[in-house]
Amino acid sequence: MKKINLAVVGATGMVGRTFLKVLEERQLPIENFYVMASSRSAGKTLTFNGKEYTVEELTEHSFDKPIDIALFSAGGSTSEKFAPIAAAHGCIVIDNSSQWRMDPEVPLIVPEVNPEDIQWHKNIIANPNCSTIQAMVALKPLDEKYKIKRVVYSTYQAVSGAGVAGWNDLENGLKGEAPKKFPHAIANNCLPHIDVFLDNGYTKEEMKMVNETRKILHNDAMRITATTVRVPVFNSHSESINVEFEKPFEMAELLETLRNAPGVVLQNDESKNEYPLATDATGHDEVYIGRIRRDESVESGVNLWVVADNIRKGAATNAVQIAEEIIKNMQ
Ligand code: A2P
Repeated sequence: MKKINLAVVGATGMVGRTFLKVLEERQLPIENFYVMASSRSAGKTLTFNGKEYTVEELTEHSFDKPIDIALFSAGGSTSEKFAPIAAAHGCIVIDNSSQWRMDPEVPLIVPEVNPEDIQWHKNIIANPNCSTIQAMVALKPLDEKYKIKRVVYSTYQAVSGAGVAGWNDLENGLKGEAPKKFPHAIANNCLPHIDVFLDNGYTKEEMKMVNETRKILHNDAMRITATTVRVPVFNSHSESINVEFEKPFEMAELLETLRNAPGVVLQNDESKNEYPLATDATGHDEVYIGRIRRDESVESGVNLWVVADNIRKGAATNAVQIAEEIIKNMQ
């Protein structure tokens, strides 16, 4: 297998550190490895595969050396500036920020769902929003079979999705300290406010779910609405997803479809109080689905409870899976 040169940009962050862990676990064939972050972290060391690597400051010259793939998770403005520089040097950027996701020139990929879209990349590939990724793994097999007409998302999102600062706000908030990252205390509150408010009254996070779902499922007409909520959970996002189909379905067949879907684990036995939990999903790469029940208020619809580790499948693992697809195509 061809060995590649790989860089992690934002390596000191919440997702960045998980990139290193997932790359180690999945044993990507790496020749030269680079870790980059802001000037604040330059000179610090990070351990990868038992070896110490010094964090480099990300600059316009960082991609002068030959780098095949760069995994970016350093915020939108960093991606806006540096992803095109890397791409112009022939490096394929897999970007975790929202900066490039809706750009028509940039594929938005969940490897279990639309790997075919990787082929038309122009050196930048976007990793979807964490909440969208886990929803797509659940909805794609159902869309193929029953054609989705409408989706209502309600999310219960962990603080790790807001990075180290979000995590600290919950940890310190539980000790009575005032919040620094969120506009209100996250300890003991659910905040119906993720990312900024837009002119239509929705938050940017809500519109990410709407727009990214349409792009990934290749259906601009799909009717979708979302309410995204930050909850006092450290890690793993939970989602209630209400889906309406064009076609009728049998529950046994729908369950079988989900059971056989790539990346899905069913936890759907209410007789044992079994349903997906954030604490169980944490540290895993699968998307857990349960509480599956017919929506009796419409002709053909279903309710799902969908949980996944937002830092792993919702960010780092999904990006590393994209890198694996690219490496496969390089052989
Ligand atoms: P640093 O640690 O040097 O600030 P998180 O979302 O968990 O807070 O992580 C954000 C990541 O993005 C960190 O690795 C952070 O590096 C990095 N980062 C933030 N701003 C920049 C920048 N201007 N250039 C490079 N990396 C950045």
